[in-house]
Parts: sequence; structure tokens; C-alpha cells
Amino acid sequence: MNTRALPLETSSFLSLLDTHRVFDERLRAHQEALLARDIPAARRHFQVLAGELRRHAEFEERECLPIYARAGKVPGGPPELFTGEHRKIGQFLDRIDAMLAAIERGAEETTRGALAILDEEATLKNLLSHHDSRERNIFYPKLEEVTTPAEREHVLRMAERLELAEEPEPPFRTIIEPFRIKVVEPIRRTTRAERRAAMIEAGYNLFGVPAEKVTIDFLTDSGVAAMSSAQWASSMLGDESYAGATSFFRFREEVRSWTGYDHVLPTHQGRAAERILFECLVKPGQVVLSNTLFDTTRANLEALGGIGIDLPHPRSASPQDEYGFKGDIDCDALERALTEHAGRVALVLLTATSNMIGGHPVALSNARRAHEITKRHGIPLYLDAARIAENAFLVKLREANQHDRSVLEILREFFSLAEGATFSAKKDAFAHIGGFLALRDTGVAAKAGSRLVLTEGFLTYGGLAGRDLEAIAAGLREITDERYLQYRVSSVAYLGRGLSKVGVPVERPFGGHAVYVDAGAWLSHLKPAELPGQSLVCALYEEGGVRACEIGTAMRGAGGSHTRELVRLAMPRRVYTQAHVDYVIETFERLAPRVRRMPAMEIVEEPSYLRHFTAKFRPVPRG
Ligand code: F0G
Repeated sequence: MNTRALPLETSSFLSLLDTHRVFDERLRAHQEALLARDIPAARRHFQVLAGELRRHAEFEERECLPIYARAGKVPGGPPELFTGEHRKIGQFLDRIDAMLAAIERGAEETTRGALAILDEEATLKNLLSHHDSRERNIFYPKLEEVTTPAEREHVLRMAERLELAEEPEPPFRTIIEPFRIKVVEPIRRTTRAERRAAMIEAGYNLFGVPAEKVTIDFLTDSGVAAMSSAQWASSMLGDESYAGATSFFRFREEVRSWTGYDHVLPTHQGRAAERILFECLVKPGQVVLSNTLFDTTRANLEALGGIGIDLPHPRSASPQDEYGFKGDIDCDALERALTEHAGRVALVLLTATSNMIGGHPVALSNARRAHEITKRHGIPLYLDAARIAENAFLVKLREANQHDRSVLEILREFFSLAEGATFSAKKDAFAHIGGFLALRDTGVAAKAGSRLVLTEGFLTYGGLAGRDLEAIAAGLREITDERYLQYRVSSVAYLGRGLSKVGVPVERPFGGHAVYVDAGAWLSHLKPAELPGQSLVCALYEEGGVRACEIGTAMRGAGGSHTRELVRLAMPRRVYTQAHVDYVIETFERLAPRVRRMPAMEIVEEPSYLRHFTAKFRPVPRG
């Protein structure tokens, strides 16, 4: 399809009107995407169209109208009429884009929003068609009459330049992996009998199954990324000095440039940073409030005698709710909790994204409000920033007034609202190990530093090798590449849409690192106490060698603020291709006819902390 904004052969003024046909094509592409409920594509097409219309209007006003004005009073076509119409078209474009943004961030329901947009566009089309006929019959014929040959050539040349300079690249429908594969690792295939045996031996707990017996490993996105050639190369620069290693200073520079915090303590992974932070700030019996605490975070807190309270956004309770920021903290509940537990709240921790309840992002506006509330109550706000870059990208896509900012700017604003952050480099930094605790306050940092030396290692390595610090520093530079992040959220959505198509109920909207299957809904014949999520992860493994993680009653125990029965399919970064994802979807498709026959499960053995890692299960014999 020819998608040029303006025809190259601009032989006459009237030929400039050919662009109007291109506008029609663009509008059609946009409306087709809208009807297919592909809102990001609909918005992209619309923004291309809006840009072209605006440039076209601006060109006419700058180059043509001053000449046209010389024609004097043209009946039916005073210059103000054209500028007035341009203004009106501009207002339509703003309004429609705002409506698209509202659907995209979940503030407006898709069908209702799309119908309202089609209404607006019917009026816009009318306006464009009137404008077109006035230009065809009055504006351009008159312009031909009054221009000198030199002016005529100048205007036409400017029209050509407009096209050459402003040609927007037509977007591809296919979003490709933004990398090539240089090193491969074979996947060993297994038989159903082998998988059954491995599963039984592991006590129906997939954490106990050897990785070589797993075909597609969606257990976690943590520490399992494919490192880039730049990361591997920088690892060779690792300075392994015990103290003051060059690698530490490079690492600290990157972390400072993200967070703006002075004090940077490397740790062997995220949970060490959490433990040290809690050791410094939480006394037994004190409370930590959060949107949702990750399981290791909660376990570390409870091991120190602290109490974790989740205050998730009310709309996160409904898996089908399209609200784009179900990771938000419930700010009204936060106000109430700060009053109710006054004197006992050690800190508020915002987890971005909310791994325990769907991987949903936290809105920047929500973090700003949490900042304002905690400041007013004199309680420090901290970030669990494990997936902050993915969170920031979803903010850019979904939140009003954030589209024009870079991911790095958004991410920096998140850090600016907090007093410090824990970070697992095994997620957004593409590292196989590592993390950090970064802090604003010198007093807290001094305390944390002593804990670090006691349990992790000296201040400049914190349990990591110099080569790890280098790989993390390089990873931090890579993760904010928006082309990569676009691919990342698109591939997660590809898996989610594929599962929906084969009838699997999934948590909506899709987040940045995983798709969450609503096992409670799919295996609706099982009660939460019968562990539908655990039953599903076992069936997935047995059927296709696909390993996933239960996030439900088996992980959290009965009760708690969120009692959803989820199975998380976490996607390692840069590891699997679309064919691997298709295979996972097919595994689900094969399970679908017998989902109602999947057995209830029970626990036969469990440890006192983090039971899902090592508990043993068994299917309940049918009575
Ligand atoms: N915070 C969040 C939100 C996490 O998802 C994790 C780990 C941590 C903290 C702890 O970091 O593993 O480096 O100690 N999540 C992994 C997962 C294990 O599978 O989601 P860590």
C-alpha cells in the first residue's frame, strides 16, 4: 500500500488534494483496528492521521493562505473560513485522542468508548468532506489564478519537502524480537511417562522437578534472562578487587542515574536488600503497608516480627476489569490504615509492578498521591523496584499525559517520590544474580551498610562478583530501550490473547512480565482449599512439559487479603520465541476438554516459611 503523506509528483495545486484520499485510508485503518478492539493499533493509526492532518493544515496556512488572501473577497471562501475549519478539525483530533487514551488506560469501557469515538468520527468525516470540496472548488482554483510562476514553484517544492521531511514510517503489524540469537541452549524433550515420574518424585511440586526435564520454563522471569553480548563483554571488565573495585563505581553510577539516591548498596539479590531495609527500619510488632508485598518480602518482614498489610486497589479484585492500573495502592485505605495504626507503621512499600496480583502497574499519579499521603503522616515511602522499567513503560502507554515522556523520565520520577528502593537485578536488569538497596538518608544508609558487611559482603561488592556488577550496570542501560519494552509487553499480550482464544480465563489487562491464568474460574469444580492452581500447574507439566507457578492458596495459605487462585506464566526476558509461546498455548488447548476432570490436590508436607517452594502435594483420591 502506498502510504506516502503527499504525492511526489506535485504538478498542480489541485494534485495536493490527493492527500485527502490518503487521510481516508488512514481513518479506515484506524476504524478497522478500533472494531477489532486493538486499541493500541487504533491509536497508532489515529496519531499518524492526526499528525498528517495537522501538518497539512499548517502548510496551507503558512505557504498558501498569504497568497490566497491577495484574491480579495472570494465569495464563499474568506481565509478565516479555512483557518476556522482547521481549528475545528484540530479540536476533533484532540478529543478523539483523549477518548482513545481513556480506553487504553482502562478509564473507559472498550465497546462504549469505541461507539462514542465512531460517533465523533462521523462528524469529523463530514467536516473533512466539506472542507475538501471547498478547497477543490474555491481555494485551489483561486490560488492557481493569483500565484506568480515563482511562487507556484516555491509552494509546490515546499509541499514536496513536507512529504520528504515528515513521512511517518508506516508501523509494522508484526512486532519482532529486537535481537538476534547468538548462543543457543538445547531443549531436551521428554515423554509423558518421564514427566509423570519426575512430577511424582517431586511430590507434585514443580520447584522439585529438574530443569532438564522442563520443555518451556515459565516458572519465573527471575535470573533467567538471556544476557546481551554487551553484558557478556562487560563481564570481562569485572574488577574482582575486594574493596573499591572499578566495577562497583560503574554500577553505582548507573544506579544513581536511575534513582537519584546517593547511597547504593549492592546485594546478592532482591530479598537481601529487603531484609536489610527491614532490619534497619522495622521493629517487632510494627506494620508495613503496601499495594501488595511479594512473598519473599512478606516472609522476610514476618521473620523479623513485622506485620505486612496489603492495600490493593479495589478494582484489582475483578480479573476482567480492564482498569489499566490495578497495581495501584488504595489511597483511601492507606489514609485509614495510617490513622488506625498510627505510631506503629514503619514504612510504606510500593511494589512496581504488583507481582502477586496480576503483574499490574502502579500509576504515576497513584505513586504521587501515596507520596503526598505518607509525607503528611511522616512515614517514609519505599519502592520495590524489581520491574520498575516495565511499570514505567505501561505508564507511558496507558496514563494520561505520559505518552510524550521517555521511560527513563517516568522511572526517575517514581524514584524521586520515594526515600529509597529495593531492587532485584534478576528481573529488569537482565542479570542472573544481583540486586541493590538504594537510599536517600545517610543515617539509614550507615546502618544498612553495617548489616551489609555483616551478612552479604564488603560495601563495594555486597555478595556479588565484579563481573556481576558490570552485567547489571549494562542491563540497567538496556532495559529502558523502548523498542525492547514494546516487544516485551506485546509478547506478553500475545500469550494472553492466545490463551483467551482457546477459552482460558486470564487476568486482564495484560502486564509486563507474565500472564496470570484464573485457575479458580477455569477449574471451577474445585474450591480454593482443593488447590485448583496447583492442580493446573501439574496438568500443564504433564501435558506439555510447561512449568508455571501457582499463586494462590498453595503459595499464600488460606485467607489473606487476596484469595484468588492464579497460575502465573512468567516469561523469561529474551529467551523464548513466538513458536515457544504457540506451543504453550497449544498445551492449554489440549487440556481444555478435560479441565473439569482435573483433580483436587492436598498438602502432605510443608515447611514453616514460603511453603510453596518445598511443600509436597498429592492428588486427592476421588471418593
Ligand atoms: N520483589 C518482587 C516484586 C519480586 O517479584 C521478587 C522476586 C523479589 C522482590 C525478590 O527478588 O528473587 O532477587 O530475591 N520474584 C521472583 C519471581 C522470585 O519469580 O517473581 P529476588
